[in-house]
Amino acid sequence: MAAIIIVGAQWGDEGKGKATDILGGRVDYVVKPNGGNNAGHTVVVGGEKYELKLLPAGVLSENATPIIGNGCVVNLEALFDEIDGLEARGAKASRLRVSGNAHMVAPYHQTLDRVTERFLGKRAIGTTGRGIGPTYADKVGRVGLRVQDILDESILRQKIESALAQKNQILVKLYNRRAIDPNEVFEYFMSYADRLRPMIIDAEYELNRALDNGKHVLMEGGQATMLDVDHGTYPFVTSSNPTSGGACVGSGIGPTKITSVLGIMKAYTTRVGAGPFPTELFDKWGEYLQTTGGEVGVNTGRKRRCGWYDSVLARYAARVNGFTDLFITKLDVLTGIGEIPICVAYDVDGVRHDEMPLTQSEFHHAVPIYETMPAWDEDITGCRTFDELPDKAKDYLNRLEELSGARISYIGVGPGRDQTIVVNDVMEN
Ligand code: GDP
Ligand code: IMO
Ligand code: MG
Repeated sequence: MAAIIIVGAQWGDEGKGKATDILGGRVDYVVKPNGGNNAGHTVVVGGEKYELKLLPAGVLSENATPIIGNGCVVNLEALFDEIDGLEARGAKASRLRVSGNAHMVAPYHQTLDRVTERFLGKRAIGTTGRGIGPTYADKVGRVGLRVQDILDESILRQKIESALAQKNQILVKLYNRRAIDPNEVFEYFMSYADRLRPMIIDAEYELNRALDNGKHVLMEGGQATMLDVDHGTYPFVTSSNPTSGGACVGSGIGPTKITSVLGIMKAYTTRVGAGPFPTELFDKWGEYLQTTGGEVGVNTGRKRRCGWYDSVLARYAARVNGFTDLFITKLDVLTGIGEIPICVAYDVDGVRHDEMPLTQSEFHHAVPIYETMPAWDEDITGCRTFDELPDKAKDYLNRLEELSGARISYIGVGPGRDQTIVVNDVMEN
């Protein structure tokens, strides 16, 4: 029995999709515990590139059952568009199941996401505009719509009416928009009902029963630690808990069942959207990482902000997630750059911080303190064992391991499924 959580350790786009794909072939279930179609997970299989948004990347694994967990927010239009797109390319999504407790994104959530961002002006979060925040807000505010509501039309209608009674006041009076007709929203959901019904299951029961029977479950987190609504750079975060505790809540698997927590970490750092980012680069190196690393957001097409590896952030992520292992991705992007700076601590208004400062204001003022390591010049994209790596790459990884609070078990040397060095196999933990 293995219950493995994959967690983004930075601000997202670390390569969680690729990590899922590598392990997905050896597990029975891949469950997405949080987020919605704000994610963008890229998987490259045999030269073919797939970009998953709402679906777990595990949908590409031949034998695993992909599940959208209770902690997710599901946009039905995006769900079926993505399924149709995959099937048109020959991939099979027929095994996909959805927890009855997951919440559904309504068209008015997307409207609210966009108008709220506009209203915030300079203080906007830079969301993906997919309605994620407003859907989670309704979940916590107890006026959300759950996937299981599709199974009871009169309940669904009542819930839409009561949500809109309040939302329409906000849309009309605060944002000067037209009121939304509850019937239109009801019809929108019912137009997907026939396709959705057979996919709805008690996922929490099924996953626990599978684990009790010795099966293997992988939890593929979306977003990342620094975007976590509790542990991230609030308010510049998403509205779910992408940390490991959130993966337990979002899939209904208790913490005592977890066998590994695998933190996915780029060999440098990127961020999409607004918010503090101490090691961000505004010079030619920022541009170098952006272009060489192909750092463009899958979901919104925005260029990702780029910076050096931040080990203060890595230690923080290791702590709040309880990482058992790390997967360092995109090491190949650093080949041939001469020297690699690593952020080892922050200077905040003249005071050295080796660990994450207490307040967000301090984090906003954090200036990285760097040490540098020499880079290697050899092409590493063909390396398949740690020993095959050049000595300078080994030194860089060893230093990251010393600084980052968990052992490095996987190293990515290219986007392909096979371009991975396995040092420890988390299935054996
Ligand atoms: P996710 O959101 O965490 O799944 O990550 P994304 O898919 O949004 O972004 C990661 C990008 O890096 C994708 O384009 C991957 O194909 C690519 N990638 C993943 N691992 C590696 C690696 O080790 N080397 C290189 N060069 N690219 C990688
Ligand atoms: P994956 O799973 C990177 C960011 C958005 C924005 C903030 C809030 O591919 O790593 P939201 O639409 O969630 O309310 O936006 O979070 N964001 C991501 N950034 N990767 C992601 O997902 C992200 N999902 C959300 O850019 O700053
Ligand atoms: Mg992504």
